[in-house]
Amino acid sequence: MKKYIATLAAACAFCSFANAQSVKQEDWGKTKNGEQVKMFTLKNSKGMTVKVIDYGAIITEIQAPDRNGEFADIVLGFDNIKDYQELTDYFGAVVGRYGNRIAEGKFSIGDNDYTLPQNNGVNSLHGGKVGFDQKVWKGEAVATGDSAKLTLKLKSPDGDQGYPGNLDVTVTYTLTNENKLIVNYKATTDKPTVCNLTQHSYFNLYGAGNGNILGHEVMLNADAFTPVDETLIPTGELKKVDGTPFDFRKPRPVGSRIEKADEQLIIGGGYDHNWVLNKKSPGEMSLAARVYEPVSGRMLTIETTEPGIQFYSGNFLAGQTGKGGKNYFFRYGMCFETQHFPDSPNRENFPSTLLNPGETYDTTTVFTFGAQ
Ligand code: BGC
Repeated sequence: MKKYIATLAAACAFCSFANAQSVKQEDWGKTKNGEQVKMFTLKNSKGMTVKVIDYGAIITEIQAPDRNGEFADIVLGFDNIKDYQELTDYFGAVVGRYGNRIAEGKFSIGDNDYTLPQNNGVNSLHGGKVGFDQKVWKGEAVATGDSAKLTLKLKSPDGDQGYPGNLDVTVTYTLTNENKLIVNYKATTDKPTVCNLTQHSYFNLYGAGNGNILGHEVMLNADAFTPVDETLIPTGELKKVDGTPFDFRKPRPVGSRIEKADEQLIIGGGYDHNWVLNKKSPGEMSLAARVYEPVSGRMLTIETTEPGIQFYSGNFLAGQTGKGGKNYFFRYGMCFETQHFPDSPNRENFPSTLLNPGETYDTTTVFTFGAQ
């Protein structure tokens, strides 16, 4: 049964049609454990649609216009909950409690040592074996005067995947009539813990399943990146991008240097690294990335309050069958994971991911969709 939570129509004073933003909620099957999954459809007055399920706070679909106003679904994903549960790889999900890797699944806060599941070789990746991407969140939708908004809440108990403290998390997705998707993350804890939340959508601005992303032109607003060891843990160095295939300060096609015999590209199997975003002051909302797909003209601009961005060029995609029976082969999608740097709990020279009782974790990333 489809339930319309809220539909607001702002009638245009000078014309006969109405602009409307709305949020629709419907049942979307059950998890293996029998938990009901819901889908929320956010629409804006420009015809953009963003679909989100409460399992993993996953963005399952983004319909965005090209330069001729033709819409296409520009994120990879699946048609049913079973595939999301079986074909992991964090498609569209919010990852946490700690997005990215923590070396050997170990960190300390003061005199307390914590051990996390080692689910990525010897390291802990994206929150452990059962991260936030695999939890059913509590969703609540509202359409406001000028946007369609969905909040998703999750309680992560003390000791969840080895992390200390009861963590209360709220993620808010807001689709505005300016074709912006604003993602706000908030969290509080009752014990000192670490927190690093991000969004793991795989983008292909030519359309999900319609080929690889090597022709997309990417700009990353970063003078440095964090090189990694062979297990993808940062060495601690902030390396200048000058003269390396990691220099995206001017837009470059993803494929233009990805096959170069560069030690870091070989380790990552392509791009799978964290860039150190240029900021005037820590925590300011500033430009992180711009992506342009020349055939469709679609553009994506990413701004964030976070200090880093993991640009992952879909090197582990291996032909999974996704929406509409289309396959997601090697590098058919890419992620722009705004975040604190990997392994920050073990690196004093990286911005801190420590969250104390009484503090509120509060970060925002804005995805703006356009075309030219
Ligand atoms: C990581 C990749 C990993 C992928 C899993 C990315 O955030 O950087 O190394 O394979 O997530 O989908």
